[in-house]
Amino acid sequence: MSLQQQIDLSRLPQHIAIIMDGNGRWAKAQGKNRVFGHTEGVKSVRRITETCAHLGIPYLTLYAFSTENWGRPPAEVAALMELLVSSLRKEIKSLNEQGIRLNTIGDLQALPPACVRELQAGIATTHQNQRLTLSLALSYSSRWEITKAVQQIARDALKGKIHPNEINEQLISQYLTTHNLPDPELLIRTSGEQRISNYLLWQIAYTELYFTDKYWPEFDEEELYKAIIDYQQRDRRFGKLATP
Ligand code: FPP
Repeated sequence: MSLQQQIDLSRLPQHIAIIMDGNGRWAKAQGKNRVFGHTEGVKSVRRITETCAHLGIPYLTLYAFSTENWGRPPAEVAALMELLVSSLRKEIKSLNEQGIRLNTIGDLQALPPACVRELQAGIATTHQNQRLTLSLALSYSSRWEITKAVQQIARDALKGKIHPNEINEQLISQYLTTHNLPDPELLIRTSGEQRISNYLLWQIAYTELYFTDKYWPEFDEEELYKAIIDYQQRDRRFGKLATP
């Protein structure tokens, strides 16, 4: 039986989040520069997005650029931003035809204006699509997001819009940039690192974690199937006892 056939389509994770790691190391192993690794990484983004859409997974969230990534050499940051713009220009039409909705989480204002324009155009073009919501985390970090949420909650409390007693988990979730997304059920990190790196810390309270040694440019359909099969073999109890 092929890997794809081993997937139980009635128990798919509804939201997969991915930390796409290892572009640089993959490129180095090929004797190429880091930017080549990112360019190949975009091919994995396309492959995995389309595979999720085909399987019927409604939410995919990719960590494309962290708040911490601003600390990389300026030439690499510029190359990543250019890659984002050129990829969006190339891919939006096809995303739209496949019923994929583009969404972003993160501090968009920190991105170069050309990126913001391209993202806004992509979001506007695809906003009615319902098959798969593809969220790109850009200039994103969880602590940034939670800090912003706390500031806004405090402002609203000062204005009398909310009372401190009303602050509960549901309300906090509504102030996060992921307010329109369900919590991820599966988080995948490539490249052998076993860290969360400031990604969706609030949202992954009960998420299953999957780590693979494959570098992101090597992460193909078969690797995604393996991750989903692994997820489906787990016993998700949410802190309760196993059902008999
Ligand atoms: C991690 O590899 C990857 C990134 C920091 C960026 C991911 C970006 C892309 C795949 C391309 C642009 C995205 C879109 C959505 C068009 P790394 O550089 O940290 O690898 P290393 O750990 O081996 O150095």
